[in-house]
Amino acid sequence: MTAPPLLQVRDLTATFTRGSSATRVVQGISFDIAPGEAVGFVGESGCGKSVTARAIMRLAPEGTPLTVGGSIRYRGQELTDLPEPAMRDIRGRRIAMVFQDPMSSLNPVMTIGAQIDDMLRRHGGLSRQAARRRTIELLGLVGIRDPALRADDHPHQFSGGMRQRVLIAIAVSCQPDLLIADEPTTALDVTVQAQILRLLLRLRRELGMALMLITHDFGVIAGMVERVHVMREGNIVETGATDTIFTAPTHPYTSALLAAVPRLSERGTA
Ligand SMILES: Nc1ncnc2c1ncn2[C@@H]1O[C@H](COP(=O)(O)OP(=O)(O)OP(=O)(O)O)[C@@H](O)[C@H]1O
Ligand SMILES: [Mg+2]
Repeated sequence: MTAPPLLQVRDLTATFTRGSSATRVVQGISFDIAPGEAVGFVGESGCGKSVTARAIMRLAPEGTPLTVGGSIRYRGQELTDLPEPAMRDIRGRRIAMVFQDPMSSLNPVMTIGAQIDDMLRRHGGLSRQAARRRTIELLGLVGIRDPALRADDHPHQFSGGMRQRVLIAIAVSCQPDLLIADEPTTALDVTVQAQILRLLLRLRRELGMALMLITHDFGVIAGMVERVHVMREGNIVETGATDTIFTAPTHPYTSALLAAVPRLSERGTA
């Protein structure tokens, strides 16, 4: 018997309702993520990548009624109808997410250290001192220099790349099995982008976690993931091994997306 997938998604639909009108933005997609596997989701803006991630986390965008259909199983356990307290336990501890908008995920009036401490004390049940020790360790782990000092800084004292590192530290703080990274590098310049991607690769290796990497940019997933799902208008239109997708895409939409990545040849696919 082979081990069950870490995440098994079947016929996932997501529908927003406004008044009497309903818009289905995820059209019934199915995919698996194996333990420790890195999978890319690529598609143009609006194709439903973030909504798919939020459906898995059961975190709808604020103030919008989102109806999710189909099945999402984590280690065989159905998440779509899991009571909220149990889901809260899964969130953060088993499946963690780095959201697309880093500024809105951090509290501007709290120090970085206090925010991570808080999270560790809430989810991990650590004492104040133990939480601070772990916070400093985590900031070091994601490459923040002088972590003990920087822990007392506020988010605005960090650069965009450093804020993204902090969010990654928060996401991996409870050693999740699956990290969902939604456009983790979009707002960053190319050099910092590469640093953050290397960090994700290293953490994945060190922590043995699976990675769901979401991006509109094929250049970002090169060398990062084993398998790619190409999304278009709420559907998965092509799935394949990363190398195959790059060298022999079968769907014209995939070819079009690939052609739109000018830097790809320079960055390579290895
Ligand atoms: N809060 C919301 N209320 C209504 N519709 C929404 C909401 N959020 C997203 N949508 C719609 O759902 C569809 C998918 O959005 P989603 O955010 O998943 O796109 P995406 O693939 O993540 O795009 P991007 O690359 O720009 O982040 C879009 O058509 C979008 O307009
Ligand atoms: Mg998005």
